Amino acid sequence: MKYKVTAHALGEIKADCICLPLLKKGKLSQLGREFDTLCDGQLSQNIKDYGAEAKVGASCAFNISGQNIKRVILLGADTDKLSQSDINKIASSLAGSLKGTNIKHLAIALDLNFNAEASEEQLTKQVILANESGRYCFDLYKSEKSPKPALQQISFKTQKQQQAPLKQAVAFAQALATGMSKTKDLGNQPGNVCTPTFLADEAKSLAKQADNFSVKILEEKDMEKLNMGAFLSVSKGSTEPGKLIVIEYKGGAKSEAPHVLVGKGITFDTGGISLKPGAQMDEMKYDMCGAASVMGVMTALSEIKPKMNVIGVIAAAENMPAGNASKPGDIVSTASGQTVEILNTDAEGRLVLCDALTYVERFKPASVVDIATLTGACIIALGHCTSAVMSNDDALANELLEAGKRAADKAWQLPIWDEYQSQLDSPFADMQNIGGKGAGSITAACFLSRFTKKYKWAHLDIAGTAWVSGGKDKGATGRPVPLLLEYLMSKQAK
Ligand code: BES
Ligand code: MN
Ligand code: ZN
Repeated sequence: MKYKVTAHALGEIKADCICLPLLKKGKLSQLGREFDTLCDGQLSQNIKDYGAEAKVGASCAFNISGQNIKRVILLGADTDKLSQSDINKIASSLAGSLKGTNIKHLAIALDLNFNAEASEEQLTKQVILANESGRYCFDLYKSEKSPKPALQQISFKTQKQQQAPLKQAVAFAQALATGMSKTKDLGNQPGNVCTPTFLADEAKSLAKQADNFSVKILEEKDMEKLNMGAFLSVSKGSTEPGKLIVIEYKGGAKSEAPHVLVGKGITFDTGGISLKPGAQMDEMKYDMCGAASVMGVMTALSEIKPKMNVIGVIAAAENMPAGNASKPGDIVSTASGQTVEILNTDAEGRLVLCDALTYVERFKPASVVDIATLTGACIIALGHCTSAVMSNDDALANELLEAGKRAADKAWQLPIWDEYQSQLDSPFADMQNIGGKGAGSITAACFLSRFTKKYKWAHLDIAGTAWVSGGKDKGATGRPVPLLLEYLMSKQAK
């Protein structure tokens, strides 16, 4: 799929379809009127004869004759002040009206009243993301593959002075889309294929083909040397060996502190001896979506090549019940030296993450963000639209929240005040791995906070946002790659 930015006059654009806005009260924009003149008033005649809804999110299409361009898609943009959410609606209604069509080359001439919140760059990015997400399909294991979509090129028509910034927006959106699609692919892979070893191989092949990347895999024996008893208590019940995967991207000066992402990579979560109920257990193949988002971000960075240092760490293990699996009541010691009483083997994410979080101290990071499908409680608290942010640094939390807004990948902060910490008190060890009834997402983050005292840290609980559950639309969403990439880009600018 090709994306181009052009400042050519409408008459010179060789597309088979053009997309134009319908402004307030159904009025055509300047480019709309220009196009109407080019096609001898056929567009306004069609609108007059058949009507066209201008509400944001609405769309309709007309055929015209005697032109290169044979079809017009009109997108409703009837709003006083264009907002970010208007932009998202317009982009997804366009993607919707392209689905199943035979259009090969689309010209987009959306000359709206842009502003600081809703810019032409934003619209361009969202159109690309919506189009790419509409085209995404995971049919690797289908005997009959889905037909390839007809659309091959989108040309964005703009003003001369906007050409350079729009080209940048296009490159960014394409890299982001590639990253999201990597995240979706990894998430959608079944648990019998996507094992910790598979994730390690994916990391190695990324590093092999990209500049300034290197990978290090810590095997279970390496983790034993580092006293990672919490991580190993999870992986030991599985015949698939656990891996701690470290991907380094060095785009900045050697002395520059890296930003670190740590992903939960439970490639299947049965719950272990604290076995989960059977219904929908298949979806626990998505329990590595935090790890998949790290891979997605690193993949996007390999295209964007920003001047900064980023380290992605993936804590990969399978959580299985077995004769040699951890049992409720077992006590393990972590790489930090703190001991943990495992009261529930299904609270395994925090066990693999705590040792990974201790490991990353050595990088003297500028910030650490962990990403995890950590708690079912997060879905109860925030549902499926919003990820949870918890942090030991309010400025960092705010940066992530703002990045989420800009990227249309929203998050909301939950408190991790000291008052919650006592829910983790254990009679036998330094802490227990569950916090009991109430505030399950917060007590999970409180557990992690005990391992992140040496740096600025935030935790993203993506249990509700990483995949669409059940039904024919089941599948990974690619979130929170947009939020994370936006956050990292804001760090590069400084
Ligand atoms: N991976 C799950 C969390 C989860 C469940 C995410 C359902 C998305 C959908 C996690 O490992 C888990 O099992 N958490 C437990 C924690 C509890 C034992 C304290 C949970 O949420 O029930
Ligand atoms: Mn679990
Ligand atoms: Zn889990």
